[in-house]
Amino acid sequence: MISQETIQQILSRIDIIDIVGSFVKLKKRGVNYLGLCPFHNEKSPSFTVSPTKEIYKCFGCGKSGNSIGFLMELEKYSYVEALKWLANKYNVEIEETEVSPEVKLTQQTADSLYIINSFAQKYFSDSLFNTEEGQDVAMSYLKERGFREEIIRKFQIGYNLSGGKSLATAATAAQYNPENLKKSGLIVNRDDRGMLDNYRGRIIFPIHNQSGKVLGFGARVIKTNDKAPKYINTPENEIYVKSKILYGSYFARMAIDKADECLLVEGYTDVVSLHQAGVENVVASGGTSLTPDQLRLIKKYTNNLTIIYDGDGAGVKAALRGMDLALEEGLNVRLVLIPDKEDPDSYVNKVGAEAFREFVRVNKKDFILFQLEVSLKDAGNDSSQKSQIVNQIAETLSKITKTEEFTRRQDYIKQVSEILKIEESGLNNLVNKFIRDKVTKDEQRSFRSEQPALVIPDGMPEETPMDEVLNLFNRDEMNERAMVRSLLEFGVKKWNEEQSVAEYLFTQIAENELDKMMENKELVNIYELYKTWYNEGLNPNAKSFLYHEDPSINHLVITIMDSNTEISPKWKEHFEGHIPTREDLFREEVTSTLNYLKLRKIKKLIEENQRELEHATNQDEQMLFLQTHQHLKQMEIDLTRQLGTVIIK
Ligand code: UTP
Ligand code: MN
Repeated sequence: MISQETIQQILSRIDIIDIVGSFVKLKKRGVNYLGLCPFHNEKSPSFTVSPTKEIYKCFGCGKSGNSIGFLMELEKYSYVEALKWLANKYNVEIEETEVSPEVKLTQQTADSLYIINSFAQKYFSDSLFNTEEGQDVAMSYLKERGFREEIIRKFQIGYNLSGGKSLATAATAAQYNPENLKKSGLIVNRDDRGMLDNYRGRIIFPIHNQSGKVLGFGARVIKTNDKAPKYINTPENEIYVKSKILYGSYFARMAIDKADECLLVEGYTDVVSLHQAGVENVVASGGTSLTPDQLRLIKKYTNNLTIIYDGDGAGVKAALRGMDLALEEGLNVRLVLIPDKEDPDSYVNKVGAEAFREFVRVNKKDFILFQLEVSLKDAGNDSSQKSQIVNQIAETLSKITKTEEFTRRQDYIKQVSEILKIEESGLNNLVNKFIRDKVTKDEQRSFRSEQPALVIPDGMPEETPMDEVLNLFNRDEMNERAMVRSLLEFGVKKWNEEQSVAEYLFTQIAENELDKMMENKELVNIYELYKTWYNEGLNPNAKSFLYHEDPSINHLVITIMDSNTEISPKWKEHFEGHIPTREDLFREEVTSTLNYLKLRKIKKLIEENQRELEHATNQDEQMLFLQTHQHLKQMEIDLTRQLGTVIIK
């Protein structure tokens, strides 16, 4: 993990204009900067960057966020990768926090595997291009299949000589660790013959990660032979995790972004051939059904997934599985079947790029409707199977729950009821029932686990001013927010000779156990995190959280800092003309938020005392509770009086 000190150092140097400006041409307009949005195609600029708020926002496509978010969105970096990019840009040395010995070992193994793979990839390329066997056996085969040299070089395709020991010898000479060589899957150890190449006589397809590093290999036989498997793939290891890999994604990322569509095929050769034909927005799943991780990877780039499989293959059945998840994620899934026992590779070679594109365009079928047709065909005239289908499709449609997709769901309900020849309203009811069931289940779950996160209610337009959103929350929530805001905004200011505002708040809150009063656990988290950072000698502020890894935290902080900062009218009168700023009033603000929390606590104590009073068993006890009651009541009155002067609006 990158240390918090390093993160603070990076954040203190962040200049959003500089960062966004490395990718987008920006012009100054008033206090903001304006440019063409990098996330969607536009002719007139609607992409604005605010240097003071340190955020960007596109009024065309609605994307917005901070500089780290910008890098994550544009470059598809992870949070840590974005930080590393920034550290590099601003020459900040990265200090990693202590990791456990196991984690360290895993990292070391992963690093070694990358190095070995890179070595092997170069070795295989060399064998393909620069040896007689490579040229005669492998290159001639690739040429025969229509692969041209430039595409072979681009995808770094190679060949493992058939001798049995060529890579093993070279790798041993280069002194790679035998354990890691075995882990990489490149070398096997035979008791009788020592270290042997695992992919002898095979064409090698390197598999790259998002940044182009080699994770592993797919190795294909040249002469099909019943005994040997067609492909041998890298075994699962520290870097090769099949469920997270999409073959070709490194080469496809730009094209997918541009086309706003991702094509999914089954095989390595399909990807390479389509690329060669100029269809570059394509990745392969390796013939298995898509995993949640792979779906998430696709969703980083686009919402439109088009699956292109051969018509009768088992692949289609595999692809059909797990697609409910794609719907939940809001992906539009379409399906194209390639006819006549062809696959995308052979088909594009047969008809050419233009005809291929056209074929895909015309034959793209909506995935849900396709699935329905397939199961209807299977069911034939069996009425019980048919009613099962109705239930199934209703459940599938109930997965489309995002507010912005309401029309999409209703369209489906209409089309599906036509295909099934049933009443639209009946299907509608059934879908709604599934949605209700799911909501109830979710509610029960979140009730049991923890407080639900603060969310903007469905149906509220995104552009609603924050104050309106805030008004939806009760005063308690507003007060908790005000407390955290005081901390973020004024924490490092002096409160008195001995204490800073933060220290004053810490002691007051601890003494009165006010943090236990707070209902929004996310706000408590921010409070605790602030305290930790503060006590480590960092000077935290809103910015420190604005860039927090957890999006719910940075979202909450943005909301808090963006909320109504107007001063209560009472103060305007009081200052007669001079309208004070929040800075002028920070003491009052800190006091009033603390008082409000204390007031809540006292009200709670009064309630508890009341209950005990009701259950008192003798007069002495009763007297005691009554006295306590009066004492608490007086405190309540005092606090309320103080609150009456300054009050959060
Ligand atoms: P295919 O049999 O369609 O292979 O399997 P392909 O990639 O189109 O190769 P060619 O065109 O016949 O030369 C599709 C994918 O399934 C995985 C591979 O990822 C392959 O690309 N597969 C297939 C294996 O992992 N092992 C196998 O034995 C077969
Ligand atoms: Mn094929």
